[in-house]
Amino acid sequence: MRLHVNIDHVATVRQARGTSYPDPVWAAALCELAGAHGITAHLREDRRHVNDRDMRLLRQTVRTVLNFEMAATDEMVRIACEVRPEIVTLVPERREERTTEGGLDLLAQGARLRAPCAALADAGIAVAIFVDPDERQVRAAAELGVPRIELHTGDYCHATGVTARAELARLTQATALGVSLGLEVAGGHGLDYPNVGPVAAIPGMTELNIGHAIVGRAIFVGLDRAVRDMLALLPPA
Ligand code: PXP
Repeated sequence: MRLHVNIDHVATVRQARGTSYPDPVWAAALCELAGAHGITAHLREDRRHVNDRDMRLLRQTVRTVLNFEMAATDEMVRIACEVRPEIVTLVPERREERTTEGGLDLLAQGARLRAPCAALADAGIAVAIFVDPDERQVRAAAELGVPRIELHTGDYCHATGVTARAELARLTQATALGVSLGLEVAGGHGLDYPNVGPVAAIPGMTELNIGHAIVGRAIFVGLDRAVRDMLALLPPA
Protein backbone atom coordinates (compact mmCIF):
# COMPACT_ATOMS: atom_id res chain seq x y z
CA MET A 1 0.00 0.00 0.00
CA ARG A 2 1.44 3.36 -1.00
CA LEU A 3 1.12 6.28 1.41
CA HIS A 4 0.69 9.78 0.05
CA VAL A 5 0.94 12.35 2.81
CA ASN A 6 -1.29 15.41 2.51
CA ILE A 7 0.70 18.38 3.80
CA ASP A 8 -2.12 20.97 3.68
CA HIS A 9 -2.31 21.26 7.44
CA VAL A 10 1.31 22.33 7.77
CA ALA A 11 0.29 25.27 5.59
CA THR A 12 -2.81 25.77 7.76
CA VAL A 13 -0.56 26.48 10.76
CA ARG A 14 1.51 28.90 8.69
CA GLN A 15 -1.55 30.75 7.43
CA ALA A 16 -2.96 31.09 10.96
CA ARG A 17 -0.23 33.69 11.63
CA GLY A 18 0.65 34.79 8.11
CA THR A 19 4.28 33.77 8.73
CA SER A 20 6.67 32.02 6.36
CA TYR A 21 6.88 28.97 8.65
CA PRO A 22 6.15 26.09 9.02
CA ASP A 23 6.90 25.47 5.37
CA PRO A 24 4.89 22.67 3.70
CA VAL A 25 7.77 22.25 1.25
CA TRP A 26 10.08 21.28 4.12
CA ALA A 27 7.35 18.97 5.40
CA ALA A 28 7.16 17.22 2.04
CA ALA A 29 10.89 16.53 2.07
CA LEU A 30 10.71 15.09 5.60
CA CYS A 31 7.74 12.88 4.63
CA GLU A 32 9.71 11.54 1.69
CA LEU A 33 12.77 10.87 3.86
CA ALA A 34 10.51 8.95 6.26
CA GLY A 35 9.35 6.71 3.41
CA ALA A 36 6.16 8.32 2.06
CA HIS A 37 5.49 7.28 -1.51
CA GLY A 38 3.98 10.58 -2.55
CA ILE A 39 2.96 14.08 -1.48
CA THR A 40 -0.58 15.42 -1.79
CA ALA A 41 -1.51 19.10 -1.63
CA HIS A 42 -4.84 20.81 -2.24
CA LEU A 43 -4.67 24.25 -3.83
CA ARG A 44 -8.05 25.72 -2.95
CA GLU A 45 -9.68 28.60 -4.74
CA ASP A 46 -9.47 30.67 -1.53
CA ARG A 47 -5.81 29.66 -0.88
CA ARG A 48 -6.69 29.00 2.75
CA HIS A 49 -3.64 26.79 3.29
CA VAL A 50 -1.49 25.72 0.34
CA ASN A 51 -0.67 28.55 -2.08
CA ASP A 52 0.66 28.89 -5.63
CA ARG A 53 4.25 29.28 -4.45
CA ASP A 54 3.99 26.00 -2.53
CA MET A 55 2.72 24.09 -5.57
CA ARG A 56 5.47 25.42 -7.80
CA LEU A 57 8.21 24.68 -5.25
CA LEU A 58 6.77 21.25 -4.48
CA ARG A 59 6.99 20.46 -8.18
CA GLN A 60 10.68 21.30 -8.08
CA THR A 61 11.48 19.46 -4.85
CA VAL A 62 9.21 16.40 -4.59
CA ARG A 63 11.20 13.34 -5.66
CA THR A 64 8.41 10.77 -5.36
CA VAL A 65 4.96 11.58 -6.76
CA LEU A 66 3.13 14.90 -6.53
CA ASN A 67 -0.65 14.62 -6.27
CA PHE A 68 -2.32 18.01 -6.87
CA GLU A 69 -5.84 18.10 -5.43
CA MET A 70 -8.07 20.72 -6.96
CA ALA A 71 -11.51 21.72 -8.15
CA ALA A 72 -12.10 21.37 -11.89
CA THR A 73 -12.07 25.11 -12.58
CA ASP A 74 -10.41 26.86 -15.53
CA GLU A 75 -7.96 28.57 -13.18
CA MET A 76 -6.87 25.31 -11.53
CA VAL A 77 -6.60 23.42 -14.81
CA ARG A 78 -4.33 26.18 -16.12
CA ILE A 79 -2.11 26.04 -13.01
CA ALA A 80 -1.97 22.24 -13.04
CA CYS A 81 -0.98 22.19 -16.70
CA GLU A 82 1.90 24.58 -15.84
CA VAL A 83 2.97 22.73 -12.67
CA ARG A 84 2.58 19.25 -14.23
CA PRO A 85 2.18 17.02 -11.19
CA GLU A 86 2.15 13.27 -11.79
CA ILE A 87 -1.46 13.11 -10.54
CA VAL A 88 -4.35 15.56 -10.33
CA THR A 89 -7.21 14.55 -8.06
CA LEU A 90 -10.42 16.39 -8.88
CA VAL A 91 -12.49 17.18 -5.79
CA PRO A 92 -15.64 19.18 -5.08
CA GLU A 93 -15.00 22.48 -3.35
CA ARG A 94 -17.27 24.79 -1.42
CA ARG A 95 -15.96 27.94 0.20
CA GLU A 96 -18.03 27.45 3.36
CA GLU A 97 -16.83 23.89 4.01
CA ARG A 98 -14.24 23.18 6.68
CA THR A 99 -12.75 20.39 4.56
CA THR A 100 -13.81 18.34 1.53
CA GLU A 101 -17.17 16.90 2.50
CA GLY A 102 -17.70 14.10 0.00
CA GLY A 103 -16.95 12.88 -3.48
CA LEU A 104 -17.78 14.61 -6.76
CA ASP A 105 -21.27 13.80 -7.99
CA LEU A 106 -20.49 12.49 -11.46
CA LEU A 107 -24.14 11.75 -12.21
CA ALA A 108 -24.86 15.47 -11.95
CA GLN A 109 -21.53 16.87 -13.15
CA GLY A 110 -19.84 14.20 -15.25
CA ALA A 111 -20.37 16.03 -18.55
CA ARG A 112 -18.84 19.23 -17.16
CA LEU A 113 -15.67 17.32 -16.28
CA ARG A 114 -14.94 16.03 -19.77
CA ALA A 115 -13.04 19.10 -20.95
CA PRO A 116 -10.91 19.54 -17.79
CA CYS A 117 -10.07 15.81 -17.78
CA ALA A 118 -9.03 15.98 -21.44
CA ALA A 119 -6.87 19.08 -20.90
CA LEU A 120 -5.09 17.48 -17.95
CA ALA A 121 -4.57 14.18 -19.79
CA ASP A 122 -3.15 16.10 -22.77
CA ALA A 123 -0.61 17.64 -20.38
CA GLY A 124 0.50 14.12 -19.44
CA ILE A 125 -1.15 14.14 -16.02
CA ALA A 126 -2.89 11.05 -14.58
CA VAL A 127 -6.36 12.24 -13.52
CA ALA A 128 -8.09 10.81 -10.46
CA ILE A 129 -11.63 11.63 -9.46
CA PHE A 130 -12.62 11.70 -5.81
CA VAL A 131 -15.92 9.83 -5.54
CA ASP A 132 -18.07 8.26 -2.89
CA PRO A 133 -17.92 4.44 -2.73
CA ASP A 134 -21.06 4.12 -4.84
CA GLU A 135 -21.46 1.82 -7.83
CA ARG A 136 -22.96 4.50 -10.09
CA GLN A 137 -20.20 6.99 -9.29
CA VAL A 138 -17.45 4.45 -9.93
CA ARG A 139 -19.02 3.46 -13.27
CA ALA A 140 -19.41 7.12 -14.23
CA ALA A 141 -15.71 7.73 -13.48
CA ALA A 142 -14.74 4.82 -15.72
CA GLU A 143 -16.98 6.21 -18.46
CA LEU A 144 -15.12 9.52 -18.26
CA GLY A 145 -12.00 7.61 -19.29
CA VAL A 146 -9.82 8.66 -16.34
CA PRO A 147 -7.21 6.15 -15.13
CA ARG A 148 -7.78 6.57 -11.39
CA ILE A 149 -10.34 7.13 -8.66
CA GLU A 150 -9.94 8.04 -5.02
CA LEU A 151 -12.72 6.67 -2.85
CA HIS A 152 -14.04 8.92 -0.10
CA THR A 153 -13.37 7.12 3.18
CA GLY A 154 -14.92 9.83 5.37
CA ASP A 155 -18.23 8.06 5.98
CA TYR A 156 -16.39 4.94 7.13
CA CYS A 157 -14.15 7.03 9.39
CA HIS A 158 -17.06 8.87 11.03
CA ALA A 159 -19.12 5.72 11.63
CA THR A 160 -18.94 3.20 14.45
CA GLY A 161 -20.02 -0.41 14.99
CA VAL A 162 -22.40 -1.92 12.46
CA THR A 163 -22.45 1.25 10.39
CA ALA A 164 -18.67 1.29 10.12
CA ARG A 165 -18.74 -2.32 8.95
CA ALA A 166 -21.36 -1.45 6.34
CA GLU A 167 -19.25 1.49 5.15
CA LEU A 168 -16.21 -0.76 4.94
CA ALA A 169 -18.22 -3.19 2.83
CA ARG A 170 -19.20 -0.33 0.48
CA LEU A 171 -15.53 0.64 0.13
CA THR A 172 -14.58 -2.98 -0.53
CA GLN A 173 -17.25 -3.38 -3.22
CA ALA A 174 -16.46 -0.05 -4.86
CA THR A 175 -12.76 -0.94 -4.95
CA ALA A 176 -13.46 -4.32 -6.57
CA LEU A 177 -15.70 -2.66 -9.14
CA GLY A 178 -13.10 0.01 -9.90
CA VAL A 179 -10.39 -2.60 -10.38
CA SER A 180 -12.69 -4.66 -12.64
CA LEU A 181 -13.23 -1.54 -14.77
CA GLY A 182 -9.48 -1.05 -15.11
CA LEU A 183 -9.15 1.82 -12.64
CA GLU A 184 -6.34 2.38 -10.17
CA VAL A 185 -8.10 2.78 -6.81
CA ALA A 186 -6.92 5.00 -3.96
CA GLY A 187 -8.71 6.05 -0.78
CA GLY A 188 -8.66 8.97 1.57
CA HIS A 189 -10.24 11.40 3.96
CA GLY A 190 -10.52 11.08 7.72
CA LEU A 191 -8.14 8.13 7.97
CA ASP A 192 -6.34 7.90 11.31
CA TYR A 193 -4.01 5.48 13.07
CA PRO A 194 -6.81 3.50 14.78
CA ASN A 195 -9.10 3.21 11.73
CA VAL A 196 -6.69 2.79 8.80
CA GLY A 197 -6.07 -0.97 9.14
CA PRO A 198 -9.29 -2.33 7.59
CA VAL A 199 -9.09 0.13 4.67
CA ALA A 200 -5.44 -0.72 4.06
CA ALA A 201 -6.46 -4.38 3.86
CA ILE A 202 -9.07 -3.90 1.11
CA PRO A 203 -8.01 -6.03 -1.88
CA GLY A 204 -7.23 -3.84 -4.88
CA MET A 205 -6.80 -0.58 -2.94
CA THR A 206 -3.26 0.57 -3.76
CA GLU A 207 -2.82 4.02 -2.25
CA LEU A 208 -4.02 6.11 0.69
CA ASN A 209 -3.98 9.91 1.00
CA ILE A 210 -3.68 10.86 4.65
CA GLY A 211 -3.09 14.31 6.10
CA HIS A 212 -4.73 15.62 9.25
CA ALA A 213 -3.96 12.63 11.48
CA ILE A 214 -0.30 12.52 10.47
CA VAL A 215 0.27 16.27 10.85
CA GLY A 216 -1.62 16.21 14.16
CA ARG A 217 0.58 13.42 15.52
CA ALA A 218 3.69 15.16 14.22
CA ILE A 219 3.12 17.97 16.73
CA PHE A 220 3.94 15.49 19.49
CA VAL A 221 6.35 12.99 17.95
CA GLY A 222 7.77 14.80 14.92
CA LEU A 223 6.88 14.32 11.28
CA ASP A 224 9.41 11.56 10.63
CA ARG A 225 8.01 9.37 13.39
CA ALA A 226 4.39 10.20 12.50
CA VAL A 227 4.91 9.06 8.90
CA ARG A 228 6.81 5.93 9.95
CA ASP A 229 4.08 5.06 12.48
CA MET A 230 1.48 5.23 9.72
CA LEU A 231 3.61 3.24 7.27
CA ALA A 232 3.97 0.54 9.92
CA LEU A 233 0.19 0.03 9.84
CA LEU A 234 0.08 -0.50 6.07
CA PRO A 235 0.93 -3.61 4.09
CA PRO A 236 4.24 -3.17 2.24
CA ALA A 237 3.95 -1.27 -1.07
N1 PXP B 1 -8.23 12.92 -0.02
C1 PXP B 1 -8.93 14.01 -0.39
C2 PXP B 1 -9.57 14.01 -1.73
C3 PXP B 1 -9.03 15.13 0.45
O1 PXP B 1 -9.72 16.20 0.06
C4 PXP B 1 -8.35 15.10 1.69
C5 PXP B 1 -8.41 16.30 2.58
O2 PXP B 1 -7.78 17.38 1.97
C6 PXP B 1 -7.62 13.96 2.03
C7 PXP B 1 -7.60 12.87 1.17
C8 PXP B 1 -6.90 13.86 3.33
O3 PXP B 1 -7.84 13.85 4.36
P1 PXP B 1 -7.36 13.92 5.88
O4 PXP B 1 -6.67 15.22 6.05
O5 PXP B 1 -8.64 13.80 6.65
O6 PXP B 1 -6.43 12.76 6.09
